[in-house]
Amino acid sequence: MKTPIMPNVSNDDRVLIFDTTLRDGEQSPGASMTFEEKLEVADLLDQLGVDIIEAGFPIASPGDFESVSEVARRVKRASVAGLARAAERDIERCAEALKHAHRPRIHTFISTSPVHMKYKLQMEPERVLELISASVTSARNKVADVEWSAEDGTRTEIDFLCRCIETAINAGAATINIPDTVGYITPTEYEALFKTLRERVPNSDKAIFSVHCHDDLGLAVANSLAGLQGGARQIECTINGIGERAGNAALEEVVMAMKTRHDALPFHTNIDAKILTRASKLVSAVTSFPVQYNKAIVGRNAFAHESGIHQDGMLKNAYTYEIMTPESVGVSKTSLVMGKHSGRHAFREKLKELGYDLGENALEDAFNRFKDLADRKKFVYDEDLIAVVDDEIVNSHDHIKVISLMVMAGTQGPQSAALTLDIDGKRVTHQATGNGPVDAIFNAIKALAPHEAILELFQVHAVTEGTDAQAEVSVRLNEDGKSVTGRGADPDTLVAAARAYIAALNKLVLKRSRGKPEAMQAM
Ligand code: KIV
Ligand code: ZN
Repeated sequence: MKTPIMPNVSNDDRVLIFDTTLRDGEQSPGASMTFEEKLEVADLLDQLGVDIIEAGFPIASPGDFESVSEVARRVKRASVAGLARAAERDIERCAEALKHAHRPRIHTFISTSPVHMKYKLQMEPERVLELISASVTSARNKVADVEWSAEDGTRTEIDFLCRCIETAINAGAATINIPDTVGYITPTEYEALFKTLRERVPNSDKAIFSVHCHDDLGLAVANSLAGLQGGARQIECTINGIGERAGNAALEEVVMAMKTRHDALPFHTNIDAKILTRASKLVSAVTSFPVQYNKAIVGRNAFAHESGIHQDGMLKNAYTYEIMTPESVGVSKTSLVMGKHSGRHAFREKLKELGYDLGENALEDAFNRFKDLADRKKFVYDEDLIAVVDDEIVNSHDHIKVISLMVMAGTQGPQSAALTLDIDGKRVTHQATGNGPVDAIFNAIKALAPHEAILELFQVHAVTEGTDAQAEVSVRLNEDGKSVTGRGADPDTLVAAARAYIAALNKLVLKRSRGKPEAMQAM
């Protein structure tokens, strides 16, 4: 029997955080990220202190391969994992993508539940066992750190699950993940499952057990924490809980539950909680998935106190209604940033305080956007600045840029839009009419940059309060079954709409140029 390489867990209450925002999170419809966005998220995850970054599924497409390779090359602290089915081609491609990683991990999986084996894999259980042994052995011949997952593990027959795990550990897997793939299990059942597995699998002490929960019944976080009570010591989760269908367990929630209720959940992680809000904002910006207002930890209302009784209590002692401080998760008190006379130096310092470290060109562009905003808006708040900078970061590599927009709107139609775009350095203008100003703008864009994409979502929200607040618009486009989202911010809602549409279009252009996915057989 091979001795598996154990991940670096020095004591019993240390829980490894395995972030899969870039893989399971990015897999959810409409959450796809560009190459540059993935790198930006990976850098922040490393800064946040996650132990493992699952960077993607290298066989899925050339784009996925490229981004896993680049994340592997640049991340210096965390382990970088790539996903692979139990197939030699997947494992080879994964190892190739990870070859420059400081700490590479191959995460290989196969379904083990009766329903998946019969209908999806069309394989007998004995064949699945052979593939587990072959895939983990092959992965271990390529990297020292191998994780094995039993897809649909929580609906797997217990005796068979024990045999699968024993086989995977014997072949060299050091992490055993039991995903609740369909979000079906309850906390007490999940806790009991880990206890049973650790008792019954003869070589269970040679591996770290891991939880991976989906939120179909809203139990992903509760289940993940229950898994720890059962003996698991790795949590797979995503920022903002993004992921397939109802999403995965939210990283910020599991981390803050352990921190805030350390008495009941005596575990600790390596996460720097002060970066949680920033990470949430970045992931929301690059995916254009808004964070619900009442979302735990990172929602806009998570630390807002509206009722008179609560406000009175808060003024007397914040602990009356706050179980953790906003500062502990990186929420800075809404503050006036600067006016139009503020200089570059103050601007750079303010960005640093908000957690941004921009290069010279990006800083200059963001500064110009800020100046423009300060000319048009009386008070510029931190939230305004964050919206502008995120917009700038996300859209700075664009082929198509909005140069100017004039709109005729109102009760007397037809509404029209005169739009000038810069497309790869060339300025082009078009005037179009439409059923309302937004339709007119989108028609003008279509005339200047022809495409077949269908508009799936158009969403507006105000960044701050007041009638001069910036509008933040999200647009989702779908081309050939692939969705991309773009976001734009501006005090003028119509300009924000144009920017958001163009941002989504730029992502489509990038997606086309990075190639189409290879055919994926169901396995
Ligand atoms: O939910 C799931 O089963 C997964 C596996 C591939 C780990 O994401
Ligand atoms: Zn999953």
